[in-house]
Amino acid sequence: MITVRAPATSANLGSGFDVFGVALSRPADVITVERAEETTIEVTGAGAQYIPEDPEKNTVGAVVEELDAPARIHIDKGVRPSSGLGSSAASAAGAAVALNRLYDRGLTRSELVSVAAEGEAVVSGVAHSDNVAPALLGGFTVTTADGTRAVSADIPLVVCLPDVALSTRDARRVVPETASMEDLVATVGNAATLSVGMCRSDPDLVGAGMSDPVVTPERARLITGYDAVHDAAFEAGATGVTVSGAGPSVVAACHGGERRPVASAMLDAFADAGIDARAYQTRIGEGAIVLDE
Ligand code: HSE
Repeated sequence: MITVRAPATSANLGSGFDVFGVALSRPADVITVERAEETTIEVTGAGAQYIPEDPEKNTVGAVVEELDAPARIHIDKGVRPSSGLGSSAASAAGAAVALNRLYDRGLTRSELVSVAAEGEAVVSGVAHSDNVAPALLGGFTVTTADGTRAVSADIPLVVCLPDVALSTRDARRVVPETASMEDLVATVGNAATLSVGMCRSDPDLVGAGMSDPVVTPERARLITGYDAVHDAAFEAGATGVTVSGAGPSVVAACHGGERRPVASAMLDAFADAGIDARAYQTRIGEGAIVLDE
């Protein structure tokens, strides 16, 4: 039996749509696997009632297929589905690490990225890797068609999760098909600024690079209270604020001492909009780790 803790992740970070991702120190899923003739999946924890246990429909079922590794699998969800915090990616990445070990498949963490991404396709229709890459490798990741680059970075973050669900499928429908050259130039500048900030673990530079004029404005419209939450976080000391992944979570970068006031301001702004929410005071963390075997 092998147990793995796989972290929540925040993808895009504004300027890096479908490219950037970070592992979060909390929350996380815990996945336990043991060999079996036939695969069974049991899900408990946050939002478990919304997650199918049929291996054909569960993100982890695709990972089992990819690794040819049938198992009895238990997923304890710390990361609620449809949250913008890489819920399906956490389960897929955790299962990939655990099953790779259980069956001695010998794949590296980088090789497991494409395996776990197949699980993402089950949920969103697209095998994108910007959540599974940081869930496997930790730190800040940049994923392109050529593969994934990862660097460790120490940036304090707040993620505020409103008590509403937003599916990645729906959030991808509002992504514009084209962008102007002016918006492209602004986005490249922000993405480059953010990358330098990650390499220096500099919350000011990371925050300065977290906006984009193309995708985020469209997605923000799907999140009740977003503009007020965004402004409240800045007023409380955040260095940058954007939609986390496909939403509805909102992520803010800040200096360590500002996390508590930023979290509190974001919660208050959601409450003023009539939305219950919870905030995680977190930071960029490590990838999936084996807890027990
Ligand atoms: N990059 C993806 C998106 C992440 O924004 O649609 C969601 O899982």
